Amino acid sequence: MAKSALREIGEKLVAPAKGILAADESSSTIKRRFDAIGVESTEANRRNYREMLFTAKNMSQYISGVILYDETIKQNGASGTPLTKGLKDQNVIIGIKVDGGLKPMPGSAVEQYSEGLDGLPDRLAQYSKLGAQFTKFRVVFTVGAGTPTDRCIEENARTLARYATLSQAAGLVPMVEPEVLMDGSHSVQECQDATKRVLSEVFYRLVRDGADLGGLLLKTNMVLSGSEAKNRAVSREVGERTIQTFLDTVPASVPGILFLSGGQGDDEATVNLNACVNEANKAHAPWQVSFSYGRGLQAAPQKAWRGLEANKEAAQAAFLERSRLTSLARQGKLPR
Ligand code: 13P
Repeated sequence: MAKSALREIGEKLVAPAKGILAADESSSTIKRRFDAIGVESTEANRRNYREMLFTAKNMSQYISGVILYDETIKQNGASGTPLTKGLKDQNVIIGIKVDGGLKPMPGSAVEQYSEGLDGLPDRLAQYSKLGAQFTKFRVVFTVGAGTPTDRCIEENARTLARYATLSQAAGLVPMVEPEVLMDGSHSVQECQDATKRVLSEVFYRLVRDGADLGGLLLKTNMVLSGSEAKNRAVSREVGERTIQTFLDTVPASVPGILFLSGGQGDDEATVNLNACVNEANKAHAPWQVSFSYGRGLQAAPQKAWRGLEANKEAAQAAFLERSRLTSLARQGKLPR
C-alpha cells in the first residue's frame, strides 16, 4: 500500500536521532518563562528569543520539527524575513499549536478542558498556507482524589479525535497530546492507571471517528511519580511502566510517540527518555519513541540568554547542547 503523505511527514518527524522542539508557548506561558529570567515579554523580545533558537546552526542534526505559536508563525525576524524561513532553510518541519488553551471544566473544581475546535478548519487552512505541516492540540488530566474522572477523559478524548480528523482533512499531521500532569503527590502506579485510561479512550475515539492512525503522532507524558511524591520512581521503572502502558494502549500503526518534558528537570528528562527508548527497543516496540520538549530544551538557553543580544551565541550553544544530549537519549545512547 502506498504510504500516505501524512505518514511520510510523521515518519520524518520521528526520524532516527531526531525529535521536536516545542516552542509554542502561549503569550501567558512565555511571559512566565521570561519573568523567571527578568525579561519583559514584548513582541520584540519574543521575536529575538525565538529567532535566536531557530537560527542555531546545524540544529537539524537533532531537531526534525518545531512547534510554533500563532504569533510566531506570522512573525518576521529582525531583518524582516519570516521567522519560519530560518527553519525552512535548515529543513526543519514547521508545526503549529492549534488548541485554544485550558478552561475550567464546568461542574468541576479541578479538571480542565481545552478550547480550540471552533473555527478550526479555517485556521488550519491558513496555517497550511503559512507553511505548517503538522499541528498540536493539548488536553490535560490531573491525578488526585477521584480524578481524572471518566467524564473529563471522555470529553477531552472526543475533542482530540475531532481535532485529529479535521487536521488530517487539511493535510496536516495531527500531534494528539493528552498529558497526565506530574503535579501532585500521587504514586507512579496512580499515574500509570490514569495514563492507561486516558490513552485507551483517546485511541477508541480516534478509531471510531475514522482517523488515519498511520498519519498521526501521539505526544504524551511518561509514567512518573507525582512531583511531590515521597519515593519517586527511578528511570528504569519509569521506562518499564511507560512502555508497558503504550504496548497496552497504542496501536502498532501509529508511527511515533513523543514525550513532553512536563516540568521534569533537564537531566531527569533525558535520563528517563533514554530508559524509555531502551525499554521500547527491548520490547521490539512497533512505534518510534522520541521527544517533543519545551522546557527540557529551553530552560538552559533561557538562562544563558537573559534578553541580551550579547548572550546570543552562548544561548544557542546551550540550546544545541541540550538538543545533542536529548538526541543521544532518543537513541538510548546517553552516557551514564
Ligand atoms: P514541556 O516539554 O515543557 O512539557 O512542553 C511541551 C509541550 O509542548 C506541552 O504542550
